[in-house]
Amino acid sequence: MHEHAFAARASSLIAGRDVARTRTLFFCTDCGNETPRWAGQCPACGQWNTLVEQPAAATGRMADRSDGVRTSAVVRLGDVPDAATTRHPTGIGELDFVLGGGLVPGSLVLVGGEPGIGKSTLLLQAAARLEADGVSTLYVSGEESARQVRLRADRLTPPAGDVSFLAATDLDVVLDAAATAAPAVIFIDSVQTMHAPAIEGSAGNLTQVRECAARLQRLAKERDVTVVLVGHLTKDGSVAGPRTLEHVVDTVLYFEGAPGADHRVLRATKNRFGSADEIGVFHMTAGGLLPAADASAVFLAGRSEAGSGAAVAAAIEGTRPLLVEVQALCTRTAWGAPQRVANGFDRQRLALLLAVIEKRAGVPFGQLDVFLNVAGGARLAEPAADLAVVAALLSSALDRPVPSTAVFAGEIGLGGEVRPVRQIERRLGEAARLGFETAWVPAAVQVNGLRVQPVRALETLTAQLFA
Ligand code: TYD
Ligand code: MG
Repeated sequence: MHEHAFAARASSLIAGRDVARTRTLFFCTDCGNETPRWAGQCPACGQWNTLVEQPAAATGRMADRSDGVRTSAVVRLGDVPDAATTRHPTGIGELDFVLGGGLVPGSLVLVGGEPGIGKSTLLLQAAARLEADGVSTLYVSGEESARQVRLRADRLTPPAGDVSFLAATDLDVVLDAAATAAPAVIFIDSVQTMHAPAIEGSAGNLTQVRECAARLQRLAKERDVTVVLVGHLTKDGSVAGPRTLEHVVDTVLYFEGAPGADHRVLRATKNRFGSADEIGVFHMTAGGLLPAADASAVFLAGRSEAGSGAAVAAAIEGTRPLLVEVQALCTRTAWGAPQRVANGFDRQRLALLLAVIEKRAGVPFGQLDVFLNVAGGARLAEPAADLAVVAALLSSALDRPVPSTAVFAGEIGLGGEVRPVRQIERRLGEAARLGFETAWVPAAVQVNGLRVQPVRALETLTAQLFA
């Protein structure tokens, strides 16, 4: 009896597994995670409504097979050409800065961003510059016709008339064209519109996107071509997003913009040929994207002088010092649990800082809704931003303005202590350059033109700052 039940259960398990193998799996279109069962929320990344059904047999992990890399022979490292000398600079200062000096031959670059943010514009500009420098390019669009792209090309400075263009969605056609034209740089706009005929499914689904990326990667490695992939970031999960390709490519750049702002931020989140977390700032103009001459000035633009709840953080983005305004608004909770909303700043970190302020500086937030915003669409991810966030929160809660000529840098510990931050001189150098007068920092450093106010504990900040 007992044995019977066991055998029956085992055979049903085996049968179940067979069924699962011939049936389908579910994939998250946002992060690429696979699960055997459908769920409303992806168990890996927590996004809602992003799981889609795909044939299990066709999927596998094709994109992870980087076949092309294995074709090269054993060499002496000293004989390998130096990436710095073989890079193709695009001539667009901020783009080259984010890339780490230019496009590396044989690499795969992913440029992600929401539709309409300016990916096609920037890449067409880059193609035009490369052509002007004698680097041959091929711009493949699966989204726009030659006429449409021509219209844009004419408006750009420099005009993109010399760029070779192909309107195609069939990956085989693209690969043939690449073999015939043999360009040094290929732009694929976008990877979600490409379709590999040998593979099941429609363009944009996870299997297709991964297979197209894998085949383009092989092309890049075998022919030493730089392949730049555009990846649309969509919220509805209708196509596999660029995050599903991050592990396959060498460099990941995301294009971001604050709604209504006339600037755009290009951020490297992965870079095998340069430092990650680097940002580039652009102005949008009728003639395309122009590198911003002064990134800090862009983020500080439109700052109001008086008023409580604002403080400027002296941050470091990648390798570059950047001044960013933090805004806080604390209002009495009308109903239910108090709200904690953070834009451009980690919500958990905000909760932690609120708890530390409450405990160490004695300012209660239990009855207050707290809204925190990093102005200009910037993001503050480093702990050094803590002090500016705390200053903005205290300023709003106490309704006492922070002097508009003050900057802040310092990490806050759980004991309310203000801890040292890296590269303090560079942060404060940037503040002095932009005409700030006082710096609130944990250490007593000397910076020309700046009054440095050492602050070692949160308890004393309130007393000193709002004295
Ligand atoms: P586009 O480059 O097509 O965005 P994406 O490829 O990311 O979807 O840009 C969207 C629209 O904005 C396009 O019609 C051109 C216009 N635009 C400008 O006029 N100036 C600019 O600097 C940028 C970036 C875009
Ligand atoms: Mg586009």
